[in-house]
Parts: sequence; C-alpha cells; structure tokens
Amino acid sequence: MANLYHIITYGCQMNEHDSENIAGLLEAMGYEYADDAYEADIVVMNTCSIRENADKRFFGVLGQFKKLKKTNPDFILCVCGCMPQQPRVIEEIKKSFAWVDVIFGTQNIKQFPELLDARIRTGRKQMAIIDNNPVVEEDMEPKRVFRHKALVNITYGCNNFCTYCIVPYTRGREKSRTIKDVKCEVERLCADGVKEVMLLGQNVDSFKDAATGGTFADLLRELDTVDGLERIRFMTSHPKDISDDMISCYQTCSKLCHNIHLPVQCGNDRVLKRMNRHYDRARYLDRVAKLREVCPDITISTDIIVGFPGETEEEFEDTLSLCKEVRYDSAFTFIYSPREGTPAARFEDQIPEEIKHARFDRLVDCINEISLEKNKCYVGGTYDVLVEGISKNDDCIYSGRTDGFKLVNFTVPEGIALTDGTIVKVQITDAKTFSLEGRLI
Ligand code: 5AD
Ligand code: SF4
Repeated sequence: MANLYHIITYGCQMNEHDSENIAGLLEAMGYEYADDAYEADIVVMNTCSIRENADKRFFGVLGQFKKLKKTNPDFILCVCGCMPQQPRVIEEIKKSFAWVDVIFGTQNIKQFPELLDARIRTGRKQMAIIDNNPVVEEDMEPKRVFRHKALVNITYGCNNFCTYCIVPYTRGREKSRTIKDVKCEVERLCADGVKEVMLLGQNVDSFKDAATGGTFADLLRELDTVDGLERIRFMTSHPKDISDDMISCYQTCSKLCHNIHLPVQCGNDRVLKRMNRHYDRARYLDRVAKLREVCPDITISTDIIVGFPGETEEEFEDTLSLCKEVRYDSAFTFIYSPREGTPAARFEDQIPEEIKHARFDRLVDCINEISLEKNKCYVGGTYDVLVEGISKNDDCIYSGRTDGFKLVNFTVPEGIALTDGTIVKVQITDAKTFSLEGRLI
C-alpha cells in the first residue's frame, strides 16, 4: 500500500492553491491522500499568520502531533506557508517543537520533494526558506479540489506594505507571471472541464507582464477569448491601482463576473494614511461610482479593520457611514491584530480590546442589515447559478453561485440530478443575510 499524506491548510486562497500544488507534488512521488491526519504517514501544515488567532491555532494543532511522533517513529511532520517565514516562529519551533521534520517557505514549494526525500534518506531535519525568490515558478501540476473551478495565480508577493500587514514580509516582493503563461494554464484547465477561474494576486491591479508590459485589463481581455471558460473571477483589487481600463472590462469581457472584492479597510482619511493605503475616501467612492456606472448590477464586497491604532470614535463612525454609503453586498470584518515586525504594531496608541470588540459588533450589525436588505432585492427574480454541490442531507437541495457570487441553496424536483459546474436557471424565493433560497426553473 502506498504511503498516505494529509495537508492542513489555514488562511487565504493563495494558501489553498499552494496546498493544491503540494498535493500534486506528493502524488507525483507516489503518496496517496488520507482524509484523516492521524492515519497519514506525512502531514503538511500550510500555515497563515495574517492575525494572531491564526498564529495561536497553529501552535496548538502542531503540539497535538507530538503524540503521533512518539507512537510512529516514521511519521513525518512538515510545516510550510507564512508562519515559518518569520524568524521568531523558526526560533519557537526550534525551541519547543524540535521534532518537526521539514520546514519550507512560501517561495520554496518546488523544493519540497527534494527536502522530503533528503529527510527520508538521511533521517535529518530539512529546512529551506528564502525571502525573495526572483523566479516565477511555472509547470506545477496542482491536485485541484474542484473539477469545475480552479485557482490560478497571476502575481506572487506584495509591494504595498500596508502598515498593519505581514504579507509583504511572508510572501516577498511582487512578481507577475506572463499573460502567455496564465492563458496557457487557463486553456489547459478548460480543456480539462474547468468552467470558472479565480485569478489570484495580493493586488491584481498591479499585474504587469514582464515580457510585454501587458496590464491586468489586457490579461482579462485575453482570457475572455478562452474556449469553454464560462466565468472569470479575481481577487484582490486595490482601490489605489484599479484603472478605468480595468473597469471597462466589465463592459467588454462577457465572461467577467459582475462582482468585485474591493477592500476599503476603513472610511477615514487620517487612518487610511496611517495604514499606508495610498487612497482616500473620495478616491474609493469614485471607484465604486465608476464600477456601478459601467456595470450597474455589480456586487461589491470588502475587507474592513476596526480598532487600528489611534482610531477615534469619530473615525470609526466614518467607516460606518462609508458602509451605509456604499451599501456592500457583504464584508469581511476584522479586529486589528498587531503583527510583529509591521510598523503599526509599534504605534503607541493601541486601542483597548473591549473598545475594539464593541466597534466590531456595531460594524457587523451595520453590514448584516445592509446585506439582508440587498439580498431581499433578488427575491422573485431568476438568475443563472453555477452548480457547486448537493446537500449532504437532502438529494433535492443543491447549492451554487450567481454571477455576482451570491450563494444560492435551491430545490430541484425529485428524480433530477445536476452535475457540478453546469449553469442552471434558479428563481429566488427567499433571502437570508448570507445566502439566497430558490427553486430550479
Ligand atoms: N489585523 C487585522 N486584520 C488584518 N488584515 C490584514 N492584516 C491584519 C491585521 N494585522 C485583514 C485586511 C486584509 C485581510 C486579508 O485581512 O483587511 O484585507
Ligand atoms: Fe497586505 Fe496591503 Fe499587500 Fe494587501 S495590499 S497583502 S493588505 S500589504
């Protein structure tokens, strides 16, 4: 029987896709996937360090594997992702978790088979971490989680250095792939049955093809011509860089979904400046107005941080008023969490936990109220839904997403079976805060 592997993934879609690549590498080495980490011969922990709770959770789960190491001397534990990119984490692993076998960084994924092989041959621990790999790795063969949709990197790393954010330190400087390489990958995916791609980059708007100078808008126009592809999504956009040319793609590219994730982080100019975001409230609202002018039915989601150091009550209220002005379809809300090594962690005016939590609760109430109101507008309408799965408990309930990324749970008449990745017409019958309900037409 082949040896078994399991991967535990924390964090963003970038990490999810890295895990797909790591799974591909392990399967090429002959390993097979195990559902249960405790049955595997190799466990890979792909970690996140964006906020403190991700940090704590990682060390907690890591500690639990020590038992396995004792009962099975051949068990191998590997740690990768954003955590080991930080020197303090390496110190902590060396000090308290010295039994970890292989450690590799966000830009060393291709080296993983060599490291694993060396660990098995020599019995010695292996580690490879670089801060800035100038090479754009191509030719990975990911093991995709879904058949009908795929994650596709277009840039790696980030040059923006928002003062709260650890990503530029854990993923290095920004590098773009070429339009040719991305298109080639998307064509191969579509030949394999993929209907929807999610283009990934920390700031997709600063994509620049090093060979041709092509922009993100040029890339979208190229991908719009790929046969078999039905839907193009992307994340994340940056309000400082999103161009009129990119926005015009919502008119010219028929496959581009009418949806955007446009993180605002906060609604007050002084705080935005201290966050190093390089736009102000007026610029943000101008981008939203332009998006809605070009694409009136676009859905908009965002990321918001409350309790950034020095944020006053009035400044927080500016965030609330901005949310009411934009009327987001949905928002990811975060309590500011100091990250060691980032400038904001050294700002003196940190906000007390109870104030941060109280602001967070008020913001969530405001966002949820608007989300529900917006979702109610869909009731009665009929929408194209891309089928993503069937309910575990009921064969007559499926789920899927609209073009605008609304999650829809819908009923189908008994005896009808739908395949993931097909697009069907669904009439919306009810609205909730985070989803819609409907029935197959
Ligand atoms: N504290 C809280 N939220 C953060 N984010 C990034 N860094 C922090 C931090 N230190 C949020 C931002 C970003 C999202 C991915 O995570 O809103 O857009
Ligand atoms: Fe972090 Fe800002 Fe880069 Fe986004 S743009 S990854 S928030 S530094």
